[in-house]
Amino acid sequence: MVENGVRTAHVLVIGSGGAGVRAAIEAARHGPVLLLSKTIAGKGGCTPMAEGGYNAVLREGDRPELHVADTLKGGAYLNDRALVEALVREAPDRIRELVAWGAVFDVGPEGGVAQRPFGGQQFPRTCYAGDRTGHEMMQTLMDRLAATDVEIVHECAAVELLLEAGRCAGAAALDRDGELGVYLADAVVLATGGGTQVYDISTNSSSGTGDGYALGYRAGAELIDMEMVQFHPTGAIHPYDARGRLVTEAVRGEGGWLLNSRGERFMDRYDPVKRELSTRDVVARSIATEVLEGRGTARGGVWLDVTHLPARQVEERLPIMLEQFLAFGVDIRTEPMEVAPTAHHIMGGLRITPECATTLPGIYACGECSGGVHGANRLGGNALAETQVFGRRAGLSAGTSAERPKSVTPAIERQLGALRERFDEFLDGEEPPASVVRRLKRTMWDGAGIFRTGDELSNALAEIEILRNERLLALIERNLLECCTAANMVLVGSLICRAALLRPECRGAHMRRDASCDLPPDRSPYGHTYLSLAREGIEEAAR
Ligand code: FUM
Repeated sequence: MVENGVRTAHVLVIGSGGAGVRAAIEAARHGPVLLLSKTIAGKGGCTPMAEGGYNAVLREGDRPELHVADTLKGGAYLNDRALVEALVREAPDRIRELVAWGAVFDVGPEGGVAQRPFGGQQFPRTCYAGDRTGHEMMQTLMDRLAATDVEIVHECAAVELLLEAGRCAGAAALDRDGELGVYLADAVVLATGGGTQVYDISTNSSSGTGDGYALGYRAGAELIDMEMVQFHPTGAIHPYDARGRLVTEAVRGEGGWLLNSRGERFMDRYDPVKRELSTRDVVARSIATEVLEGRGTARGGVWLDVTHLPARQVEERLPIMLEQFLAFGVDIRTEPMEVAPTAHHIMGGLRITPECATTLPGIYACGECSGGVHGANRLGGNALAETQVFGRRAGLSAGTSAERPKSVTPAIERQLGALRERFDEFLDGEEPPASVVRRLKRTMWDGAGIFRTGDELSNALAEIEILRNERLLALIERNLLECCTAANMVLVGSLICRAALLRPECRGAHMRRDASCDLPPDRSPYGHTYLSLAREGIEEAAR
């Protein structure tokens, strides 16, 4: 409904990746839904780019307890167990649902959805559609969405959550022309994805700027474990324009070897049992160590080799990898790929209950912008499953929330006034947002990377403070969104560094060179780090 330029709905979903679209589909069963998409819905975000797969317990020999145990161990026991149980219990139903909706996954010899091994798992439980799994899921979800009454607002980005009497009442958003719109709803679902674009080298699409963390934080919601940033072990490093692009874990799942410049299969030294299929934190650190100790390639990576596999296996199971590297001039059937770690996923995010309620009434969160399910390190294949399990849960919670009056109250008018003042400052600013973002990316890569120390993090934070004080410049209204995005990215960078300083231990993806790494993670005295406008600290471990 549109009234005086204000649009209302029962549920407002912000974000159109796998989690957001799944939430919208569910919420639409309970009333009118508006879906705000920063990009053309279905084309942006990380889901359509996700290659490797979707974890679900589907076959005899596998059991939910094994999937739970793998996820907790992989997450260095920092995971929220109730979220893990929900993920594992519901992932099989959600993939069956996708199949019923028309998704075409690869099929195993006996007819069910095929599964392959992924790192850190005791059973080959990663379902896949070649190496374009997320794309297949997204197409299916968009078809399903088209069969609902959900109204999609394309190329319109939320820039602030609107609060009324201590709860979220909607969002202010900028469209592609820089026009400010007001969207009010009984409940809001944040499904804005991740934010590893704050790093110089990242697998994320350009929309992975961490908007949900920033929106939620500024509105007063609590974030947990923001220090937990996953570096995917294998990103392309050459040519320059392809830097960071994902080289799927499926390559290792299919039997690919990691080799250093001496031709040694070096994972034997770091994890002789699981080798290339160790967890991502271990593999990424091992590659970084090989390079730091002088056994890397000239470009600062290692080799990922599938030349010992039958060419047909590569062609059938890894067609996108084959095509991608052929475009770079490398035939992976006969030559190795050159790879290095790349920022991939933020395990932390908005603190949620299993029903996806955040700490701020009226807002639900799902997908990568939420935290807790993956603990200190995510298993490959658990993110696509998470989008469906928690997307549905968030949609259900928001959809079944109570109706409320929806109007622009004086409190909301004040927030819109503050926003308009900020826009005026941008139009009168000095520093192009692209230059701030460039400096931020370098700062994060150097100061809050795979290995970090307290000094490096403090220095990064000091640099981020300088960036925060830059007077961002919008030359025309259309540039306002770039300024808002740059400000969000700077905030996300600071949240990561602040959380990393709060955790004085090595745990999963958080490797502090200046902290003790001796204690097994299940004996750590520490629980989640938390950050909100009201408080900041680290919890004791829950036992
Ligand atoms: O390597 C991959 O295909 C990525 C999968 C994931 O992050 O879950």
